[in-house]
Amino acid sequence: MGSVTGSVHLAGCEWLQYDYGSALMARDQPGSFTMWRYRELLPVPDGPVRYPVPIGGTPLLPAPALRQTLGTPHLWIKDETRNPTASNKDRATALVIEDGLRRGVDTITTASTGNAAVATSFGAAAAGMRAVIFVSTDCQPEKLALMTQAGAWVFQVREGYAAAVDLSRAAARTFGWLDRNTGANPFTIEAKKTVAFEVWEQLGRWLPDVMFVPVGDGTTLVALYKGFAELVSCGLAARQPRLIGVQAERCQPLVWAWLGAPARQAELDPGATVADGIAVERPAIGDAVLDAVRRGGGGMVAVTDGALLSAVAMLAGRAGVGAEPAGAAALAGLESAVERGLADRSETVVLLVTGREVKASGAPTYPGRVTVVERFDEVERALAGDC
Ligand SMILES: Cc1ncc(COP(=O)(O)O)c(C=O)c1O
Repeated sequence: MGSVTGSVHLAGCEWLQYDYGSALMARDQPGSFTMWRYRELLPVPDGPVRYPVPIGGTPLLPAPALRQTLGTPHLWIKDETRNPTASNKDRATALVIEDGLRRGVDTITTASTGNAAVATSFGAAAAGMRAVIFVSTDCQPEKLALMTQAGAWVFQVREGYAAAVDLSRAAARTFGWLDRNTGANPFTIEAKKTVAFEVWEQLGRWLPDVMFVPVGDGTTLVALYKGFAELVSCGLAARQPRLIGVQAERCQPLVWAWLGAPARQAELDPGATVADGIAVERPAIGDAVLDAVRRGGGGMVAVTDGALLSAVAMLAGRAGVGAEPAGAAALAGLESAVERGLADRSETVVLLVTGREVKASGAPTYPGRVTVVERFDEVERALAGDC
């Protein structure tokens, strides 16, 4: 049983705490390797796990051809595209729904730039829950189609992702739904930290020197920081790896914040980059990202759309890994960080590849399940019509 002993607030986000010790870490050889392997360090009470789909346990790939091309002999790819809906968002979805199933909640809501919404729609479908999703009107149509195919109710919000978050959170409060919004629900950090435990185990109970992470709202990076910090707290590791957060040049609020300078408006435009997954103008837990990066001696870098698309091609052509532009940001960031002296090619480097390009299956978006809204009363009216 994961025994949470309390929680603290760090740089604007809630951080669950445990009674740390090495006994909390699984020791057996994993029969089936999923994130529930780490349940002693997760807020999951005793009893069988109810979430019905295996999540996590993704491969750490040595990528020999990519190593040769880049001159990075100790480079690894943590391939999160192997999760059921092809992104790391499945981890957070699973833990939030696991909690909801135990509490008998029948509806989950989230806002999303796309991948968290797809993960939530499919996770809810598998668990027999209703999903109510809020996305921007410029959400990728292929992702929208997947959400509706999984039976989710989707609200497209004209004012974009930040307004979608506000509406989703208001709906969760008003109707008592599960609130999966990243950064708002501490379970999203708890679930995503299991990537740190997996990397440590897959490297033979050893940590890399540096890890590259795409950053949108920041939960993925902060969760890794927490996971690595917990390995230190458990007495299982002596130090944490440096974390380098990567943002798209056209939407890089945290790179400028890290440099201590105000961002120009042209560099805060979520619609202007190919990396929709990390195009977040006001990151939910940006302060915690900056804190984690500073404490670990890492940094933040911005990459151009051209570099993101080259990274997509290189991951496919030299590692056999299919990634979407946001998912490939870690590789683009490596080149930029080496140029700036933030990383060295001889170090043990892990690239977190967070998401795969969604294929257009040709299956339709079910129009009856998508409503374009601006205000909360429009959401309420649409939902009343559903009952
Ligand atoms: C593919 C991909 N990578 C990275 C991220 C960024 O994750 P976070 O919001 O936790 O920083 C997202 C978020 O949607 C994503 O879809």
